[in-house]
Amino acid sequence: FQVPQAVNEPVKSYAPGTPEREAVLKAYKELYNSKVEVPLYIGGEEIKTGDTAPMNPPHDHQHHLGDYHKASKEHVEKAIKTALEAREKWANLEWEQRAAVFLKAAELIAGPYRYKINAATMIGQSKNIFQAEIDSACELIDFLRFNVEYMTRIYEEQPESNSDAWNRLEYRPLEGFVYAVTPFNFTAIAGNLPSAPALMGNVAIWKPSDSQVYSAQVIMEVFKEAGMPDGVINMVMGDPKMISDVLIGHRDFAGLHFTGSTTVFKNLWKQIGENIHNYRSYPRIVGETGGKDFIIAHPSARPKQVATAISRGAFEFQGQKCSAASRVYLPKSMWEEVKNYVVEDVKSFKMGSPEDMSNFITAVIHEASFDKLAKFIDAAKNDSDAEIVVGGNYDKSKGWFIEPTVILTDNPKYSTMCTELFGPVVTVFLYEDDQWEETLKLVDDSEYALTGAILSQDRYAAAEATKALQNAAGNFYINDKPTGAVVGQQPFGGARGSGTNDKAGSILNLYRWISPRTIKETF
Ligand code: SER
Repeated sequence: FQVPQAVNEPVKSYAPGTPEREAVLKAYKELYNSKVEVPLYIGGEEIKTGDTAPMNPPHDHQHHLGDYHKASKEHVEKAIKTALEAREKWANLEWEQRAAVFLKAAELIAGPYRYKINAATMIGQSKNIFQAEIDSACELIDFLRFNVEYMTRIYEEQPESNSDAWNRLEYRPLEGFVYAVTPFNFTAIAGNLPSAPALMGNVAIWKPSDSQVYSAQVIMEVFKEAGMPDGVINMVMGDPKMISDVLIGHRDFAGLHFTGSTTVFKNLWKQIGENIHNYRSYPRIVGETGGKDFIIAHPSARPKQVATAISRGAFEFQGQKCSAASRVYLPKSMWEEVKNYVVEDVKSFKMGSPEDMSNFITAVIHEASFDKLAKFIDAAKNDSDAEIVVGGNYDKSKGWFIEPTVILTDNPKYSTMCTELFGPVVTVFLYEDDQWEETLKLVDDSEYALTGAILSQDRYAAAEATKALQNAAGNFYINDKPTGAVVGQQPFGGARGSGTNDKAGSILNLYRWISPRTIKETF
């Protein structure tokens, strides 16, 4: 039996006049004005608890999209019970049957659900159409397809046998349930974190970010339509502390699949440690967390290429990718030229609602994020060791809009060179052209290690940086921006404060969701 060879889903252009542009606009308009109620999904049931919270588009925060329902402690307990019951059959199903569910889900997103899931991501998370397409359509489809292919490779691996003994590995799922905690910034990650363990035979309880519930519901619809049996993936929203207390406090908690902040992940890890004597097995802990992603240019780099890496790497999706460039190290001799290009780029970026597809920049996710960014921008306006090169304005009257902002500093440890801001703010430090080695050390001196980029036309310098920065980024780019990893091509994840580096969308990640049994049979 052979599954179809995984191929990356082609990215549609959405250029003016294309049918996809019309289709997604139509889906956008339909969704925008239909009040949506998002229930909990527990087993086959869609539960409206009556305890609700509103959903509002970040670019139009007074518009009411609908409400999502929040779980009580009893609901979370019910989700555990339901998942464990579903596990009895799901874990023992032939892998082809599980693969079929997720391959079908990929085809549903590639076809009939494409515009709905993109529109939901545009509305609920304020992505422009191009950013929505590469995330909620292509990346999510790629995760589903490639994970199926990786699963088959894992299952093919069998030990040696001989005339006395037949040895085999049985790839069992974990004994218990997996808790998936997902972020607002990628609909694809939200879909992947519960589905990767489920593909390997596990059952999952999924808590999406409050700010991504709108597109999360479409993912659940797709999984259901694809024939996922009841209880395999359950979705609960609500008080994160209560949800984590119930799930992590349970004897059958078997794994955490997390993407989000470093602080939250460390706290969950600690909580797991405190509960360690209660568990049946040692839980698997997999997390992708914060970042302070860098760009360093060597004096030999091409200024225009450096500028494009900065303006795209720092400002796509308002800088809210975990991979977004947020600290830049440039040789002094290059600054004038790079600055002119970056300023030109930034001034050409239109800002506004994603419904107008000529807008490159839309709003940041919520008020707390807006306030944090505004605070750092204001500080940079006043601090003697910083200046605003371009941008620096913000406006929250209609949506959470922050202008793409470039800060220049002569202090390599300036606050915005070190603190993760998760928004459209990038800070540039200029180094003396003869201080290349020292600058590599500065770049490496970070508590994070997610992504980074070196731009250089000098191959020796590129090689030197690749070596000197070997622990500074889990995804390292040469002559490119540090964002836009593609499933099946650049497995994604980093170490240090950025995560456990189990590379989402790779075979390494899937290995974490199995607990194999070795069987020896003698003849
Ligand atoms: N895959 C995304 C990127 O590389 C981050 O999750 O930009």
